[in-house]
Amino acid sequence: MCGIVGYVGTEDAKEILLKGLEKLEYRGYDSAGLAIVNEEGVHVYKEKGRIATLRSVVDQNEEGVIGIGHTRWATHGVPSQINAHPHQSASKRYTIVHNGVIENYAQLTREYLQAVNLASDTDTEIIVQLVERFSSEGLSTEEAFSKTLDLLKGSYATALLDSESPDTIYVGKNKSPLLVGLSDGVNVVASDAMAMLQVTNEFVELMDKEIVVVTRKGATIKTLQGDVVSRDSYIAELDESDIEKGTYPHYMLKEIDEQPYVIRNIISKYKDENENIKLDEDIRQAMLDADRIYIIAAGTSYHAGLVGKQLIERIANKPVETHIASEFLYNMPLLSKKPLFIFISQSGETADSRGVLVSVKKMGHKALTITNVPGSTLSREADYTLHTYAGPEIAVASTKAYTAQMAVLAILAVDTAKAAGIDMSFDPLQELAIVASAMETLTDKKEVLEKIAREYLSVTRNCFFIGRAIDYYVCLEGALKLKEISYIQAEGFAGGELKHGTIALIEDGTPVIGLATQEHVNLSIRGNMKEVVARGASPCMISMEGFEDEDDQLVVPHVHDYLTPLVTVIPLQLIAYYAALHRDCDVDKPRNLAKSVTVE
Ligand code: F6R
Repeated sequence: MCGIVGYVGTEDAKEILLKGLEKLEYRGYDSAGLAIVNEEGVHVYKEKGRIATLRSVVDQNEEGVIGIGHTRWATHGVPSQINAHPHQSASKRYTIVHNGVIENYAQLTREYLQAVNLASDTDTEIIVQLVERFSSEGLSTEEAFSKTLDLLKGSYATALLDSESPDTIYVGKNKSPLLVGLSDGVNVVASDAMAMLQVTNEFVELMDKEIVVVTRKGATIKTLQGDVVSRDSYIAELDESDIEKGTYPHYMLKEIDEQPYVIRNIISKYKDENENIKLDEDIRQAMLDADRIYIIAAGTSYHAGLVGKQLIERIANKPVETHIASEFLYNMPLLSKKPLFIFISQSGETADSRGVLVSVKKMGHKALTITNVPGSTLSREADYTLHTYAGPEIAVASTKAYTAQMAVLAILAVDTAKAAGIDMSFDPLQELAIVASAMETLTDKKEVLEKIAREYLSVTRNCFFIGRAIDYYVCLEGALKLKEISYIQAEGFAGGELKHGTIALIEDGTPVIGLATQEHVNLSIRGNMKEVVARGASPCMISMEGFEDEDDQLVVPHVHDYLTPLVTVIPLQLIAYYAALHRDCDVDKPRNLAKSVTVE
């Protein structure tokens, strides 16, 4: 969701910024722009649509060794050329890009900018106009920038150019992520390290309410009050090849195929030399101390959290509630006496989850973040972190992060159970190895799944996924995958709940995908499938070896009862992928969506 890049060095800034923006495409955006500074002044290019469109309008002869760039995911104001960033102040002295939402922009406009004709509908523009106003009152650019940021309520990551100091980028952040990258005689700014790996792998994280003055010679971090802050840099453990598609047509397909390797990687990272689970003692103790676990997450990570609830309750015998982050923030249930909060987030930047984290930390509760990005905001601000080791996930539709989250939750559940003295025959490390092989069997069945997608989903307007018990949670995820990338209206339903209303939607030919992996509900889910077939539905039953029926469309390899979601989701991911292809959808960059949802 929105992305920022900035470059100050010795090379062609426009090319580096465009490449950086291409690396941020995965976050989701609807317009893009950049500004380059040279002797003639600041030149702004911006366009609605893809980076390729922006590239086509940037003057190839544009020279300049300093600039900023942006991908915008519209919040205030429609996606358009005018609302795209960068925005400029009335005199065009200042140029800015911004991620986030300024909550008090209307009030600040009334108070300070009555006399200014705003050119766009964005909240961003007021930042650059305020900087100009305060600098015209005699403040230096740095002072005017700090004063402006101090007035803002909401979230921002922002980079500012001043045509009168053409060797400097001023950056600031609050709640939205932003990094400064360091190299020899070259410094960069990026929302995500991936964007600037082309220049450096050494980065410094910024904390909320800090500003940085970035030049070729260095980067000085200060508080908004002007105190210099010293912070060590870190080396991003990322390789440019990790973020390339290779021979794959789409990142999503590559990431689906990577799942067996991810699971094996998790096994190796969480295994000690005696083949036992290796986990931080403090996390173990926090799990033991808690009288109730609250799992908080959004979207696909929430679906992993639903499975996590089952795993922790069944294996470790500890009560768990799983909540949607955006709801929990405003509708908090009565908490237990000693809660532990577990945040699940691929990106570690989801604003809804962060809102809950900030709020429960204020209440004095402990928090553990399970994330794919250990240096992320949710990881830094929680007491403990468990890494999912899935490698960068670029496709907007989450696949390998979901299975990795569930694998880590299974390991955590067993570790807690053992520490609590519960007799345990289930060895998650061994069982996950079986899961990895089962995943491979399924990723090899692409032709079968492509055919299912073609036959059931090429022309339909809607689709239902039904399952019971743990299969129901996978149905929610299967439906989310299908709707987000193929735009087919899809719903996941508990098999038994259909006849309480939803069955009214079943018509001749309505596709219903059923999951049957659990012995104790096998007969009842098959009964539910018969009910929809009797009303004209086209059934597609996916079952697990041992509980299959001869008419089932797909039988997945047998894995331990606790871990079936890691396997059954693979065909659902592939069915969604092929359905989107058959409908000519942009698989990796679905409309209206952002990878990292950094606004509430
Ligand atoms: C769907 C998807 C989203 C994310 C959600 C939370 O494929 O990716 O539903 O799961 O936006 O994001 P994270 O996990 O980064 O907190």
